[in-house]
Amino acid sequence: MLCKKSSFIFCGAFLFVAWNAILIFALLGRSLIGNQGESGDKENGNIIKELMRVINSFETELESQNKILLQIQRHRSLWEEHRGDGMAVKSKSDVEEPDRVVIPILVIACNRVTVKRCLDKLIEYRPSEELYPIIVSQDCGHTETANAIASYGSKLTHIKQPDLSDISVPVEHRKFQGYYKISRHYHWALNQVFNVFSYSSVIIVEDDLEVAPDFFEYFTALYPMLKSDPSLWCVSAWNDNGREGFVDPGKPSLLYRTDFFPGLGWMLLKETWLELEPKWPASFWDDWMRHPDQRKDRSCIRPEISRTLTFGRRGVSLGQFYDKYLRFIKLNAEFVPFTKMDLSYLEKRKYEEAFEKEVYSAAIVSMEDLKSGKLSGPGPFRVQYSNPESFKILARNLGVMDDLKSGVPRAGFRGVVSFFYRGRRIYITPPVGWKQYDTSWS
Ligand code: UD1
Ligand code: MN
Repeated sequence: MLCKKSSFIFCGAFLFVAWNAILIFALLGRSLIGNQGESGDKENGNIIKELMRVINSFETELESQNKILLQIQRHRSLWEEHRGDGMAVKSKSDVEEPDRVVIPILVIACNRVTVKRCLDKLIEYRPSEELYPIIVSQDCGHTETANAIASYGSKLTHIKQPDLSDISVPVEHRKFQGYYKISRHYHWALNQVFNVFSYSSVIIVEDDLEVAPDFFEYFTALYPMLKSDPSLWCVSAWNDNGREGFVDPGKPSLLYRTDFFPGLGWMLLKETWLELEPKWPASFWDDWMRHPDQRKDRSCIRPEISRTLTFGRRGVSLGQFYDKYLRFIKLNAEFVPFTKMDLSYLEKRKYEEAFEKEVYSAAIVSMEDLKSGKLSGPGPFRVQYSNPESFKILARNLGVMDDLKSGVPRAGFRGVVSFFYRGRRIYITPPVGWKQYDTSWS
C-alpha cells in the first residue's frame, strides 16, 4: 500500500519536472522561430533579451522544483508513516529501520507556566526534531502560559483548544468540573494529532511531567512491540509503585507487563484511538480507560524505574496522592540503550510463563515475617491475599498503593504486585491458579 503510495509521489514529481522542461523548450523554440527572417541589431538584442528571460525563468523554475524534491525526500518517512487508511500493515521503513519512525509528543497544557520544565527536558533529551515533533496543546487560554510555550518558537507546534466554555455537569459533580475540562481537552487534542496532523502514534505527556534521559529511547524501542502485539494497548513511562526504596536501583533496564493503565507519559496508537474516540467519556478519562469495557484484557508495558516524574503538586485532584506517594517517585537517571537490547522476554506467552514460574516459586511468607526483617536469603518472597480487604492490608503495611480500579491493583499483572522491600524482591499475589479479575473489588 505504502510503497505504492510513495513511488506514486516520486512518479508525480518526475512528470512535473519533465512537463516543465518540455514547456520551457517549446517556449524557447517559439521565440527563436518567431524572430526568423528579421534582421538588424535591434532584433538580435530582442532575441538575446528574450533568451535571458527564458533562461532566468528556467533557472527559477528549476530551483523551486529542486526545493520541492528536497521536501518530498525529507517528508518521505512522514508520508510512509501517515498512511491515513488506518490499516495495521507495516510500512517498509517500519520493518527495515524501526528507529526511524516518526513519533510525535503531545504535551497537554493549561495554565501553568512550569510547563517549561517539562518542555526543557523533552527538548534536551530529544534525539531528533524530525522524528519526535512536539505538539503542545493548550487549554484554558492562559496568556502567561501561552507566552511561555510560544517562546520555544519553531522547536514545537503550539495549538489551542478552542472551546473554553464551562461544561454543564450534574450538581454533585460541580467540584469535578476540572475533570470534565481535561477530558474535553484530551478528546480534542488527540483528534488533532491523528486526524489533522495525521500521525499514526503519539506519546502523551502532561505539563507537570519531567522526563528521564532515556525517555525517547524507551518508547522508540517498544514501538514495534506495541504495533505488533494486540494484547498490548499502551506503553507507559510510569511505575505507580516506583518510589525510592521500592524499586531495584540496580535494574534500570527491567520492564514489565501490567494490567493497570498507568498513564503519565504513555504511547497510544491511532488504531486504539479510533476505537476509543467514539465513546470517549465526558470526565475521569483515566479511570474510564481502566474499565474492562475499554481495556478488554489488554496490558501496558511499564518500567521498574519511572521515566517520568510528576512535579504538579497543585493539580485538578488537589494533590490527593502527591504528598503521600507521587513526589517520592524515583526518576531514572541512567541511560539504558533499549533499542539495542533484546526485549523479547516481554512477549505475551514467554512473559506469562516466566512470570508465573518466578512469582509462584518464591517462598510464601507472612507480612509480619517481612516487617520484622528477620528473613534470611536473597528472596524473592511472596505474600498472599484472597480478597480486597486482605490486599489492602498487605499493600498499606508494605507501603505500596492499595487502591484497586475495576479489580486491578496499581502496577499489577495477573493480580500480582511486584516491588522492592528492604533490598529484596517481593510479590503480593493472589493464590495459585488465578483466572481473572473481580471487577467488583474496589
Ligand atoms: C489527574 C491525573 C492525570 C489525569 C487527570 C484526569 C495524576 C498524577 N494525574 O490529574 O493524569 O489526566 O487526573 O483524570 O494521576 N488540564 C487541562 N484543562 C484544564 C485543567 C487541566 O487541559 O482545565 C490539563 C493539565 O494541563 C494537565 C492535565 O490536564 O496536563 C492534568 O491536570 P492536573 O491539574 O495536573 O491534574 P491531576 O490531578 O494531576
Ligand atoms: Mn498533574
